Amino acid sequence: MRKKLFIVAALILMYIIFLEGCVYHKGNDYPHPPTVVVGGCNDTNVRYSVEIKSILDANCISCHNGTASVSGIDLYDYEIISKLALDNKFTYGTLLSAVLHKGGAPFMPQSNPQLQLQDCDINKIAAWVYHGAPDN
Ligand code: HEC
Repeated sequence: MRKKLFIVAALILMYIIFLEGCVYHKGNDYPHPPTVVVGGCNDTNVRYSVEIKSILDANCISCHNGTASVSGIDLYDYEIISKLALDNKFTYGTLLSAVLHKGGAPFMPQSNPQLQLQDCDINKIAAWVYHGAPDN
């Protein structure tokens, strides 16, 4: 009996430590996305104008360069990107669900399901979204 209690307590403690150790406990109403654990990834103080923009420019703009583009979605525009980040259309918001390949959104970048952003880039997007997708 005592042993069982100890195991349960240890599991709860591990769970708390796990949550504290990742970026996703910050922020708003979204359920926690599946964790992408990477060492050496600096995802604190992620800025839209620097980190997020450069990830999108490198991986997404080729198909998302205006409302007349192949996707009809303009990822140059902060207003549009932040709306996609904070909507409730898919489990983690459209933007993060798309790059996580989870939560029901079409997988992005689109051309190939195996082609996914690097874990650190996904973490940066997640951190930014969970801080409310600020225009910083
Ligand atoms: C090879 C072209 C291509 C690339 C690269 C690409 N996309 Fe897309 N994306 C599309 C197309 C086409 C659609 C619309 C069709 C669909 O929903 O599958 C789309 C749809 C989307 C949507 C809307 C999903 C919805 O249903 O509301 C989001 C968000 C998105 N892309 C984000 C991204 C992000 C972020 C990247 C970069 C990591 C990216 N895309 C890279 C072609 C691309």
